[in-house]
Amino acid sequence: MCGIIGYCGKEEAAPYLLKGLYSLEYRGYDSAGLCVFAPQGMLTVKTAGRVADLQQKWDALPERPFARCGIGHTRWATDGAPTEKNAHPHRVGSVSIVHNGIIENSGALRVELQKKGYVFVSQTDTEVLAALLDEGYQAVGNIPAAIRYAESRVTGSFAVAAMFEPEKDTVWAFRKESPLIAATAPNGNFLASDIFAVSRYTSQYYPLQEEEIAVLRPDGLSFLQKDGTPLEKDPVSILTDSRQAEKGAFPHHMLKEIFDAPDAIRETVAAYLRDGLPSLSLLDPKGFLRRAKRLFIVACGTALNAGKIGKFYFEKLAGLSTYCAIASEFRYDSPILQDGDHFLFITQSGETADTLAAMRMVRGMGFSATALVNTPNSTAVNLADSVLYTRAGPEIAVASTKAYVAQCSLLYLVANAVALYREKINAVAVRENVHALYHDAPICIANLLADREAVRAISQKYCEAPSCFFIGRGLDYSLAEESSLKCKEISYIHCEAYPAGELKHGTIALIEENTLVVAIVSGEMVREKTFSNIREVRARGGKVLLVTDRHAETQVADDLYIVPAKKLFPVCAAVFFQLFAYYGALLRGCDVDKPRNLAKSVTVE
Ligand code: G6P
Repeated sequence: MCGIIGYCGKEEAAPYLLKGLYSLEYRGYDSAGLCVFAPQGMLTVKTAGRVADLQQKWDALPERPFARCGIGHTRWATDGAPTEKNAHPHRVGSVSIVHNGIIENSGALRVELQKKGYVFVSQTDTEVLAALLDEGYQAVGNIPAAIRYAESRVTGSFAVAAMFEPEKDTVWAFRKESPLIAATAPNGNFLASDIFAVSRYTSQYYPLQEEEIAVLRPDGLSFLQKDGTPLEKDPVSILTDSRQAEKGAFPHHMLKEIFDAPDAIRETVAAYLRDGLPSLSLLDPKGFLRRAKRLFIVACGTALNAGKIGKFYFEKLAGLSTYCAIASEFRYDSPILQDGDHFLFITQSGETADTLAAMRMVRGMGFSATALVNTPNSTAVNLADSVLYTRAGPEIAVASTKAYVAQCSLLYLVANAVALYREKINAVAVRENVHALYHDAPICIANLLADREAVRAISQKYCEAPSCFFIGRGLDYSLAEESSLKCKEISYIHCEAYPAGELKHGTIALIEENTLVVAIVSGEMVREKTFSNIREVRARGGKVLLVTDRHAETQVADDLYIVPAKKLFPVCAAVFFQLFAYYGALLRGCDVDKPRNLAKSVTVE
């Protein structure tokens, strides 16, 4: 969601800015722009389209200036439609800025600034922030003071890169809540929303903290405290191999990432094993999970769906009462919290604003928080009291795939460790479970991937369905929720997940001739009951695709796919549904990696 890039160096800025914007595309956006210090002043080019459109516009300029410094942005519309006017950078007076986040009091500030003579051409909160910077700068002629003034007037979140016309060839950056990093490389100095925009140039970067200012010039990168005094910072190593973020020979990042699943499981699990058993001193170094009387899992989207699978494991294996909460709703609920409650926040990116807000809230109330994250050095890592890492590698496609598989796997491992500690199961059983996770599940997934043509054929058969219900009971229902989300987000088919038994209490009214229902059935306990629900659907003309873990009579459903997972059916069958959604979206001509309206990293609440 929104991406910032900045460059100051000895080389031409525009190609670096455009390349950076291409790397940030995965975050999700609907317009783009850049601004450079041209010899005759600041020059801005914007488009309501893709970065490729921006590049075309730039290349088509009659006289392209040689500029060594500039800023660029991909905008995911919040305040104001995704038009060229609303695209960043925004220039007001002597200031041009790009901004991620939301200025919550921009309405009142806009009116105040209009009274002072400022004229706004866009509907954005960003233009208001630019005006504040200009006002501050006009008043004292000092940039750190102008930044302090603007920050003191706004509420909300922001990461900002700014250029001030009189201060040629310099880019200034500051932030609150929204992340921003700076980096220096042999070819110049960079500013970016995340490391993917710079990792091809350097293996180190500087996370910019709140109350700090980064200053980029062609000859160097420096930092200031908010009061303008110089600040020394130590760089952080980029742990992620940036090559993992390339899609290689795969046609899409999503397909490549689905294929990464077996490695994601093995690497995530291996890091926490000692002598074939999950190590509690690695998984729970501070004893939060061991001491917990109740566990609250808080997350958004796919991470939340993984949490629901985790809830099942924590309760079933470890006997630990577990509650799942939607991060954006959690702060408005009134949970009765008590001593012994512990919070687990799941987030692939570590930057999801709703999850971070919930995390700040519970920590403010004195509870401890564990973050289960995929991105090292992310904000969630810095906020948490303890961290569990999935090692899925960078996920670029908007639809989360390997991260979900890794999250469910790690939750299963932790639940086993806690169960062993609480003597709910013995070491022999835990060893068996770990073997099923570390050894059997990756093989099962690899077999499924090898059978992808069969999955594609099933997708082809159903991809024109106008809507689809995913049904299951218990753990199967939690998987149905994720499978339904996967399908709707990339293929734009209206999908809903329903607990199979609940269908007859209303939703079955929507089943008519050829309505597609995907039924998920694993284990013995719910099998016959869900089969009854399938019969109810088929009796009303519905078409049923059954995905199950063992043999079933072919006449049970219209189509049948078996994922023969012994213990980790949700982890393995998730890959079937990821492929099902992928091929369906592809056949419908959808932009698989960058689905409309969606963002990978949702940095506004
Ligand atoms: C967005 C993404 C989803 C993701 C969710 C939570 O909605 O499109 O794929 O599951 O955010 O993201 P997180 O980084 O917190 O796991």
